[in-house]
Amino acid sequence: MKVGFLQTSPLFGKKDENIDKAMATIQSLNADLFVLPELFNTGYQFTSREEVLALAERVPDGQTTRAFVKLSKERGMYIVAGLAERENGRCYNSSILVGPDGFIGCYRKLHLFYYEKQWFEPGNRKLAVYDIGKAKVGVMICFDWFFPEVARYLAVEGADIICHPANLVLPYCPQAMITRCIENRVFAVTANRIGTESRSEEPLTFIGTSQIVGPKGEIFYRASTDRNEAMVVEIDPKIARDKNITPMNHLLNDRRFQVVSSRTEDFKNKLGCLRQRL
Ligand code: ACM
Repeated sequence: MKVGFLQTSPLFGKKDENIDKAMATIQSLNADLFVLPELFNTGYQFTSREEVLALAERVPDGQTTRAFVKLSKERGMYIVAGLAERENGRCYNSSILVGPDGFIGCYRKLHLFYYEKQWFEPGNRKLAVYDIGKAKVGVMICFDWFFPEVARYLAVEGADIICHPANLVLPYCPQAMITRCIENRVFAVTANRIGTESRSEEPLTFIGTSQIVGPKGEIFYRASTDRNEAMVVEIDPKIARDKNITPMNHLLNDRRFQVVSSRTEDFKNKLGCLRQRL
């Protein structure tokens, strides 16, 4: 299976140009699954809710989703792309998944980063895993990487590949995603952007370094920090289905829910019970 990403430098607010440029690159590529960055069509640094509303689109009947459904059909390709979504006057930082048979799904970013909290509503839908024939794929967006339970949830739900549109500014994510892949035995395709946006007093520089990582932490390709790039690599997604670390250790079945709970109160109670028993 061929999976790839596009690393771009969108021009803020120039949706037509950003969409046309991305589509022209994708037209020349051969891939089964292709991932574009977060907010690839609008740019990132909004300065008001009105601005977000004006640039956001309805899904699936908005401009970008319709264009990518057409492109997916023409190219026989599945595509994940980040955009600002509008629904009933509210905006979400979302990513669509489209394929040769049309629109498949839309993920709304759960963990909003910094000023995104002023512009977007946090995601209000469950994470989902989709069977696209050659693999099962899950989607998370950028800062979701900081919350390991997101990648874990997608792995538990059967994802072979995590598609990860991003607009990274913190430097840690490319290394951290190696761990996300190892601890969940999944592939991850992080599609990031480059460039600087200075639309407020706090300019943001995006770190590039988009990458494709394997279930054992293999970096199949890591992009530059400062160039537009497109890359496609061949992977075998079935490798992600073997969760045995040793013949006696299964990555998911060996978890110790009895004593390790992510809810602090549960954890304290269970620890108290354990102490009493000892
Ligand atoms: C981010 O979540 N765009 C940093």
